[in-house]
Amino acid sequence: MTINKHILLGVSGGIAAYKSAELVRLFRKQGAEVRVVMTKSATQFISALTFQALSGHPVHTELLDVETENAMSHISLARWADCLIIAPATANIIAKLSHGLADDLLSTLYLAATCPVYLAPAMNQAMWNKAVTFENIERLKKHGVKIIGPEQGDQACGETGFGRMSEPVDIYNHLTDTIEPQTPCLQGIKVLISAGPTREPLDPVRYLTNRSSGKMGYALAKAALKAGAEVTLVSGPVALISPENAHLIKVETAEQMYKAVLSEAVNHAIYIGAAAVADYSPIVINSEKIKKQGEQTTILMQKSKDILAEVSALTPPPFTVGFAAETQDLEAYAREKLTRKKLDMIAANWVGKEQGGFDSEENALHVYWAKGDKTLAMTDKTKLAEQLIRLIAERFNNE
Ligand code: PMT
Repeated sequence: MTINKHILLGVSGGIAAYKSAELVRLFRKQGAEVRVVMTKSATQFISALTFQALSGHPVHTELLDVETENAMSHISLARWADCLIIAPATANIIAKLSHGLADDLLSTLYLAATCPVYLAPAMNQAMWNKAVTFENIERLKKHGVKIIGPEQGDQACGETGFGRMSEPVDIYNHLTDTIEPQTPCLQGIKVLISAGPTREPLDPVRYLTNRSSGKMGYALAKAALKAGAEVTLVSGPVALISPENAHLIKVETAEQMYKAVLSEAVNHAIYIGAAAVADYSPIVINSEKIKKQGEQTTILMQKSKDILAEVSALTPPPFTVGFAAETQDLEAYAREKLTRKKLDMIAANWVGKEQGGFDSEENALHVYWAKGDKTLAMTDKTKLAEQLIRLIAERFNNE
């Protein structure tokens, strides 16, 4: 996704100021132009030079700037901005803004700005909980200012509670969703998605399965619906609520998933295989509970059908997107699956690591196709799914 926007970042003086450097990097990486305004106290926490290097532009700190046209930097900056985000927003700047004070560049800019304004508060938990701060925030909200965070957790002062600035990636995701909302990039397109694990029964009470929760696949279904698609979701056993407006087909085994996906795939323009399908299933399913006997046992298994490879072999095939769950050599294995299974794209994720992959709220994806690749940074699966759907739509509409 490219963000063709002018982002004006205001940094006020708090220990979280260093985190805003990452915010600049995230926006610039997606093509946005960023200008930075710092309060005097912010420059005591992090140098203006850091923001200058990251944004590629001089940092503004003075209300009356002789270097700027007409010495009116607050007016020209306010006109330039598509969006003003103040991160971190201290209790002091929040109080000033809520009362319309304009005694430095940042507070004056807020008054001159006509674009959407966002604040990411950061302060000690007692300051955040003070009634006067609450009133100031409520006043700003009434004037249309959007508040992001703060989060709960350990604070630099050693206390615990609400007051930590939201993580840069969360602020970034929040802003990109608002200023570049999900476009109907798949309007009317039929998208088939597989999600969750499969269960391969051994006997009436036992089965083999894996750690997939279905969260990634369900998030993709929601994101595709949001992008205007007609969605069919073939789901293994999960404890998730079905996305409203998706056509849900529940299955248990790899064989059932194979049948459901193959019969639906012919009617869909896109297939996304996010399910963790069993590679092997037991040859014999005992009709009675298997009795304990001996120190060791063997289960004979047979390879299950490769759903993804069979979908991409259809004539004509839907635009086929696979996943690759890897614990080593991510790119090499993902690219090998891309070629061998004749896929249009593959989204690879590390699994079995501390963060991301199976049964977690967050994930990161490395997406590969014949002539390119893109990394989608670690974020919650809802946001990640929206990014992946945008990328799939871009490639699908290109071909
Ligand atoms: O469900 P969550 O907890 O949110 O976790 C998400 C996830 C980690 C399960 C998901 O992001 C993911 O990686 N899904 C694919 C898991 C997997 O089975 O990967 P694989 O590398 O073993 O398989 C490669 C591809 O072949 C996958 O698209 C898979 O759906 C497909 N496959 C595999 C075997 C088979 N018999 N048929 C298939 O279609």
